[in-house]
Amino acid sequence: MIRQIAYMTAIEQLRHEHEAMTLVLSILDELCQRLANGEEVNPEHFGQVLEFIVVFGDQCHHGKEEQFLFPALEAAGIPKAGGILGVMSEHEQCRVLMRKMLAAWQKHRLGDCAAAAAVIVSARDYSAFLHAHIFQENNVLFPMAEARLSADSQRRLLEEFERLEIECIGAGRHEQFHKTLDFLEQTYLGWGESAQAALDTLSARETVSSFQRALNEATGDFTFAQAAQKKIAEERNFITSEIAKLSSLSR
Ligand SMILES: [Fe+2]
Ligand SMILES: [Fe+2]
Repeated sequence: MIRQIAYMTAIEQLRHEHEAMTLVLSILDELCQRLANGEEVNPEHFGQVLEFIVVFGDQCHHGKEEQFLFPALEAAGIPKAGGILGVMSEHEQCRVLMRKMLAAWQKHRLGDCAAAAAVIVSARDYSAFLHAHIFQENNVLFPMAEARLSADSQRRLLEEFERLEIECIGAGRHEQFHKTLDFLEQTYLGWGESAQAALDTLSARETVSSFQRALNEATGDFTFAQAAQKKIAEERNFITSEIAKLSSLSR
């Protein structure tokens, strides 16, 4: 279960949403593995995963970044060419891959058995791309944002995010998505206590990483940031493989 954090800055809220999006990708991967094994998958559950990706991930999360965060970063002096353009084009690429996946699923739902392979390939392409995009934002763009945005800017962003959620998806829908995600997580990932402990370790390491980011911001040493990013990637790979092992033990 993704833990709710009572008081967050705008950037922390986006990081928190990344956690939920990463979790839904794990559920999508599991559903695709079942399809690849020739097993039946519950179409309602697959539909819930796709709805989360479209509404929570694209319309809501990417909407917050595009409509409010990126302009705020530009206003704070970060040039478009300094990373913002790159993530904007990645959002477009995400949408292309997402539409491919939705079209393949639609065909599969209408009884085209051959479409299962297209569902699996398109979902895996989408998952890999979004994982890389989230990693880039968490470790490069967001540390830059935290260094440049004032407390006032972050508070304004939070208000804008809140308004977007109400206008775009409606009051209370965000929480409903988290509830559905909890249900799908329990159903498909079945995290046991030991796996939860591994997630806690991941969370603790992310806290260490945030101190690392603060140091980078203070020194402005980009070379140091790159080395730290590599180390974080290694830690993440290690923890991900540990979680995968624990997950397979708990099934
Ligand atoms: Fe993004
Ligand atoms: Fe993001």
